[in-house]
Amino acid sequence: MGCALSGPSVSPDLAVSEEKRTPSQDGGLDFKTDLEHGGDEEPKQPFLLSEAQKELIQASWEILHKDIARVGVIVFIRLFETHPECKDVFFLFRDIDDFQQLKMSKELQAHGLRVMSFIEKSVARLNQEDKLQQLAFELGRSHCRYQAPPKYYEYIGTQFIQAVQPILKEDWTPEAEKAWENLFKYLTAMMRRGFYTEETTRASLSLHARKPAVESTPNRI
Ligand code: HEM
Repeated sequence: MGCALSGPSVSPDLAVSEEKRTPSQDGGLDFKTDLEHGGDEEPKQPFLLSEAQKELIQASWEILHKDIARVGVIVFIRLFETHPECKDVFFLFRDIDDFQQLKMSKELQAHGLRVMSFIEKSVARLNQEDKLQQLAFELGRSHCRYQAPPKYYEYIGTQFIQAVQPILKEDWTPEAEKAWENLFKYLTAMMRRGFYTEETTRASLSLHARKPAVESTPNRI
């Protein structure tokens, strides 16, 4: 059984019972391991946002936050237009081909808002890197359960950046763009790590579940 929007998936219950793992237990920002897993293009080095970049992000969020419902819808409509394969990941949207209908969909609006609320939480944690890391890592683990593969994550940052430019107007600068790009690179790298950690956990759990019980041989002495 899967989640409401993504359709059939592996049972979420498996993950609930297992011990909570952290990004650092799983190697933190080791981009090399991610490359081995997915083969997707990775940042060459872990990034740390400079103080100036954090401030730029916070300043643009001050302006943006009242428009997040609209931005959320734009991001997903553009994502589905440019990468229709992403729409197929969503159980509720995969059969809707009319983009006007999608734009008006309450479910899409709610989903866009959930994703934007996550960005809001991330912005609020720019000075608490451990918390930010954990947040994105856990989101990656849940995306494994949604069967949403990491190769698509970076599209969200691209669409977000395009969607907010017209809202921020002259407040959108090359420096602000770079800061947001770095934030999304960081979030998607951590989500990727969470995804692969969850995938490995699930694979080993299902392997254990399939192993036949070893019959005990009666002691003949
Ligand atoms: C930076 C990239 C992304 C972010 C920040 C993000 C964020 C989120 C958030 C906050 C949720 C709400 C549920 C939760 O908290 O676990 C969610 C759900 C979900 N996301 Fe993403 N997401 C991203 C990329 C993607 C992509 C690219 C896809 C598909 C191609 C995707 C597919 C899904 C699906 C299927 C769900 C479950 C919906 C549901 O059952 O309500 N996500 N995402």
